Amino acid sequence: MKKCDDVFEASNEFIKKNNLKEDYDFLVVDFHGEITSEKMAMGHFFDGKATLVVGTHTHVPTNDARILENGTAYLTDAGMCGDYNSVIGMNKNNSLNKFLKKESIKHFPAIGVATLSGVIVEADVENGLAKNVENFIYGGDLKNSL
Ligand SMILES: [Fe+2]
Repeated sequence: MKKCDDVFEASNEFIKKNNLKEDYDFLVVDFHGEITSEKMAMGHFFDGKATLVVGTHTHVPTNDARILENGTAYLTDAGMCGDYNSVIGMNKNNSLNKFLKKESIKHFPAIGVATLSGVIVEADVENGLAKNVENFIYGGDLKNSL
């Protein structure tokens, strides 16, 4: 991914100016990034200050949904909605040819049966924190959880 501002500094500035239940009823933080350690750190950073911290971008769902110590739901990556008989959603033969340095063209989407991946959070209206969290996988090639 391209370089951007320091997301921890930006989050720190945001938290200084905004408070759960004072400025909004619920807060969902979608951390679009590659690195699992950064996503986990961000989850702990927002613990008690957000309803949910969920990672995106890797296209691969993780199996670590949980509620952190101070009540924020967390999932490292929600995964993608698309064809998993692929290389992160792209045509697998073309992607493999690129890795093998064989003839290939620009990446293009796989068009098989899609899987829906995501996260469901039950939140407490009184404090804006999570009461329950579950990741879900529905349809397509992955083992379904719904
Ligand atoms: Fe991305």
